[in-house]
Amino acid sequence: MRAILALEDGSVFIGSHFGATGTEVGEACFNTSMTGYQEVLTDPSYSGQIVTMTYPLIGNYGVNPEDGESGKAQVSGFVVAELAKVHSNWRATESLGPWLEKQGVIGIEGVDTRKIAKHLRSAGAMRACLTTELTPEEAVEAARNAPSMEGCNIVDKIGSHPMTPEEVDALVTGKTLPPAEYDIVAFDFGIKYNILRQLRENGFRVTVVPAHTTAEEVLAMNPDGVFLSNGPGDPATLTDIHREVAALIGKVPMFGICLGHQIISHALGAKTFKLKFGHRGANHPVKDLKTGKISITSQNHGFAVDPDTVPDNVEITLINLNDNTVEGIAQDASRIQRAIPPGSGTRPQGSPVSVPGFQENDCGQQAATCPLTALPPLPIDQSIFLASLGKMRYLCPEPMNCGSGRGFFSFHQPLPPANNLTHHMSKIALISGITGQDGSFLAEFLIDKGYEVHGILRRSSSFNTGRIEHLYLDEWVRDMKKNRLINLHYGDMTDSSSLIRIIQTVQPDEIYNLAAQSHVKVSFDVPEYTAETDAVGTLRMLEAVRILGMEKKCRIYQASTSELFGLVQEVPQKETTPFYPRSPYGVAKQYGFWITKNYRESYNMFAVNGILFNHESERRGENFVTRKITLAAARIAQGMQDKLYLGNLNALRDWGYAKDYVECMWLILQHDTPEDFVIATGEMHTVREFCTLAFREAGIELEWEGEGVEERGRDRKTGNILVEVDPKYFRPAEVEQLLGDPTKAKTLLGWNPTSTPFEELVRIMVRHDMKYVKTPVHF
Ligand code: NAP
Ligand code: GDD
Repeated sequence: MRAILALEDGSVFIGSHFGATGTEVGEACFNTSMTGYQEVLTDPSYSGQIVTMTYPLIGNYGVNPEDGESGKAQVSGFVVAELAKVHSNWRATESLGPWLEKQGVIGIEGVDTRKIAKHLRSAGAMRACLTTELTPEEAVEAARNAPSMEGCNIVDKIGSHPMTPEEVDALVTGKTLPPAEYDIVAFDFGIKYNILRQLRENGFRVTVVPAHTTAEEVLAMNPDGVFLSNGPGDPATLTDIHREVAALIGKVPMFGICLGHQIISHALGAKTFKLKFGHRGANHPVKDLKTGKISITSQNHGFAVDPDTVPDNVEITLINLNDNTVEGIAQDASRIQRAIPPGSGTRPQGSPVSVPGFQENDCGQQAATCPLTALPPLPIDQSIFLASLGKMRYLCPEPMNCGSGRGFFSFHQPLPPANNLTHHMSKIALISGITGQDGSFLAEFLIDKGYEVHGILRRSSSFNTGRIEHLYLDEWVRDMKKNRLINLHYGDMTDSSSLIRIIQTVQPDEIYNLAAQSHVKVSFDVPEYTAETDAVGTLRMLEAVRILGMEKKCRIYQASTSELFGLVQEVPQKETTPFYPRSPYGVAKQYGFWITKNYRESYNMFAVNGILFNHESERRGENFVTRKITLAAARIAQGMQDKLYLGNLNALRDWGYAKDYVECMWLILQHDTPEDFVIATGEMHTVREFCTLAFREAGIELEWEGEGVEERGRDRKTGNILVEVDPKYFRPAEVEQLLGDPTKAKTLLGWNPTSTPFEELVRIMVRHDMKYVKTPVHF
């Protein structure tokens, strides 16, 4: 049966159904864990969410009664690339599909989960609909009508499930329980069983109380500590709970994870905000700001604490290294050794953990408060919390005598800049020339790397976005014109005001300056315009960054060229080879090269040149020689053209594949030091050789005869002359040969210059054009 996942922005993914049937709405999110799908499915923190698993095969170890995080499946829907129909694990009692059916959860498989995750990363978490009965249009509408996660109180919706200490004990199976030394009251906002299991296994007697238990009721139970659980929904909505927790602060040691951490933060006066796409997976690096040590953690939360609102007397102890968001806070931090929360359970049971400094590597967000004054630190054996695989330590020297009147010990940790912490979940790149061959490949490459990608689009009387349309408008939403993976801004290299405005708006971390009048022959016809765009345009870009005071924030890549070597002074050409440009294009680009270097040296900017040799692709402009040849070969082979006219057949070029070269642009900007690099294959071929190979790929064997302007390429089979020389394609001054030496890039950047060999490049282009020439042209 067909199933549809529709997002509120109009994206639609069609696959096959498993589990229950029907229609469900929720927030679409993704989880990157390789294992732990049963824990994910039963984790109450996932309530209200349609979860996409990025690991490609899900269900292979079935489900079992011991690993559940609660008594039932909690997710609103489940999305996988491939569902394992047959499970194989001695602990399993059932396969995932039938179990989900019983649990009433709709599943979809056979969809591109990588695409979904990439889309949610760049566009942000969205309302979604999973259905086996609606049309795509109806499903999109249903997604749009679903409640938003922001402002949603799901804790009350799922309800609490109080448990006696005996019921908690019964959750631990197959293990001898240690004596319970301390009494913990655990607030249930959607608590996970694994937390309870681990608290119990570490000597805590745990009583689970409902979410709305009052401070007075908790204190009447006289606990040694209070634990605030994880849970779903927006923490800001739980105002009455914030109030009760605030009333406990100073009276009893307390710690919380995920939602619990956010509730303590609210109780202390901080605020939370919705993360763009949440933290869900088993590999989130978290840094302890005090020790500098990093642990790899398992996380599941869609909100985070806003560091700008954390009061001065609260210490930020942990940050997420992916996006610098707050992962841990503590009050009276001088007293608190460390509060590592129990496991979220997405780690395989019993797997060893060996992250230095952290004995346990689980769920990230946590908060702890201790009501002590500045008493001298006491030994660990006086701690009242000793949890999480026996290693979590919450030091409180006088556990039962903490006077609330003594106030909190204040400790504040300096933070990274706020804009890194809250708003920029990924690096931001700005590409000039995004509509060109390289720009389009680079945009795809950077989106894959998780960048937020912006591009400069110049005004044109006809569409110039053909190469990036698939990024601009998703194939599923062409009609709805919504789903944008890239952001385009009108601007022009000849207009500094537009460049300043765009850079100011976008605040890029990296600029790739690819925009240029890039045709060498045309530069003889429009030399002044070429200089304006390619030379002064580069200056404008550099100046815009400087004017905006972004010299230190923003790295700039300048698209330099092998045309600088022109009349070559040595073979092969490397970074130290003297320049001798041979065209207005080459001369303009030489200015671009030097001004980039000059700004680097003058203003200490990370501004670098990639001296790229020719690189081609199926997206190459149609009047560059390689594409002109492959298009002609495809048309001639299919009876759509008679003859191809070319210029200098003896010209030698070092041709690579553009898709490989954009990786280098990125690598150059990631290098530790700002340096210029030659990017080439180290192999050169004549235009004639390219022609022979391209026609062969199209099924035609060429024989060459004659010399100079009289040279011809004849079809060996039919005798027809298919290629002739036309002097109008000669250039006033020719670059006869170019051959690059990519040793520096190979050595310092680890780049492989021959990942697409020359013959493969020709094949890719011809195969593409054999189909392309047959597609109708639309105006
Ligand atoms: P391309 O396909 O010709 O693309 C050039 C891009 O620049 C297009 O997006 C174009 O926009 C834009 N552009 C042109 N004039 C502009 C202006 N005044 N303001 C704003 N945008 C403008 O070139 P490419 O092959 O991708 O090459 C990218 C860069 O690398 C160029 O700087 C080129 O000189 C350099 N380079 C290329 C090679 C190579 O073999 N491909 C080798 C070395 C260096 P429209 O789409 O609107 O025309
Ligand atoms: N365009 C074109 N058209 N070139 C021809 C033709 C023809 O009909 N016949 C022979 N050629 C020769 C040119 O004279 C040149 O020697 C060689 O083929 C390559 O020409 P192009 O494909 O136009 O590229 P280019 O080398 O001049 O310039 C490209 O590479 C540079 C890097 O070396 C462009 O992408 C530049 O922007 C880039 O900087």
